[in-house]
Amino acid sequence: MGYLSGRTVVLGVSGGIAAYKSCELARLLIEAGADVHVVMTHGGQKFVTPLTFETLTGHPVMTEVFALSESKIWHVDLPGRADAAVIAPATANIVGKIAHGIADDPVTTFLMATRARVVVAPAMNTAMYEHPAYRENEARIRSFGHVMVEPGEGFLACGVVGKGRMAEPETIREHVERVLAPQSLAGKHVLVTAGPTREYWDDARFISNPSTGKMGFALAREAWRRGADVTLVTGPVGLPDPVGVRTERVETADQMWERTMTAYARAEVVFMAAAVGDFVPEARRPGKVRKRDAAEGEISIPLRLNRDILRALGERKNGKLLVGFAAEPAGAFESAGAKLREKNVDFLVANPIDGPDRAFAADENRVSLFRRDGRREDWPKLTKDDVARRLIEVVCGTKADTTEGGGSHG
Ligand code: CTP
Repeated sequence: MGYLSGRTVVLGVSGGIAAYKSCELARLLIEAGADVHVVMTHGGQKFVTPLTFETLTGHPVMTEVFALSESKIWHVDLPGRADAAVIAPATANIVGKIAHGIADDPVTTFLMATRARVVVAPAMNTAMYEHPAYRENEARIRSFGHVMVEPGEGFLACGVVGKGRMAEPETIREHVERVLAPQSLAGKHVLVTAGPTREYWDDARFISNPSTGKMGFALAREAWRRGADVTLVTGPVGLPDPVGVRTERVETADQMWERTMTAYARAEVVFMAAAVGDFVPEARRPGKVRKRDAAEGEISIPLRLNRDILRALGERKNGKLLVGFAAEPAGAFESAGAKLREKNVDFLVANPIDGPDRAFAADENRVSLFRRDGRREDWPKLTKDDVARRLIEVVCGTKADTTEGGGSHG
């Protein structure tokens, strides 16, 4: 479960056509375990009826400033109970009102009275979005500590193509998760690698492995939620870019080497979750090797050892915190301890490649954590999201290079 679980979230809906997307946002917040209360301006009610949100949330929708909810003045009661507020869509008008402390409708009245973290998802046409008054108001709102979720570009309801389209509900939900998460990695540069690599032996064929990138993506998402500036270098996988994360897609181990080394320069914490190809064909034959070229139906592909990225990072450690992964047969986890020492990393996470707990492509993982002092922890089977959360908690609780045997090799 993420950080929305058991939290009270107030969704403020103002008058824009994107209000229809806020129904989906309400559903996503509820699905993530939040108790969602909706507050609407009169404009908002012109696009979606309060009944829609009442049905979705199971709570009365606040549509007037002066009204009772369960015998309490709602705009006194609800602001104190809210853990987070999300204004979606936020019109140019409401952004202007928030920026100047005007509280003359249910949404702005709520916002003036709450100490909850606030996420604002603007939606308006491009001319309004670029207007100097709006730009100033947005900057002012940011200075209050509110989070602005940048609108996307695309086809707007007014018929033009431009910036101003409200961010997707999934993206907005991620921002709400982030404001509720402990900011234990705030301001830190985190580098994560994920997925398989492809080592081509002709232009149409390659050697790879079954990694799907789920573990690395979960780590990148969790690090971003905790306030980090995250770079994710990933091999070919079918997962969308995690919200807020600088995602660089590569194909081969050589490309992963290049991008990882570049990002490593400013990284402070590194999770090397990629299943980098260990063996690479000696040569990539141009074009396509034909069946008729195979002598007596057989073909051999000479392979050579690939460069080990993690080992190279360990040699240039320089105070960074390095977390490696090891793909191991379930009965041979002990060799992970040796990998930790050989590659000079702070933590090594062993995950099984066989048996009922095989980690490849699974949503769950049964890992063992190895530390520099030789300690080993066997974790229960957890979702990869939970492994990511727990791993980051352990890593955040440890200062780089303070564990026994740590040292700068750079
Ligand atoms: N790794 C890497 N570059 C490689 C191979 C592996 O950076 N060319 C990293 C992986 O991302 C992982 C760790 O090294 O974090 C261990 O990978 P694993 O495949 O388990 O072990 P290997 O070092 O390849 O050793 P072996 O083949 O002996 O199991």
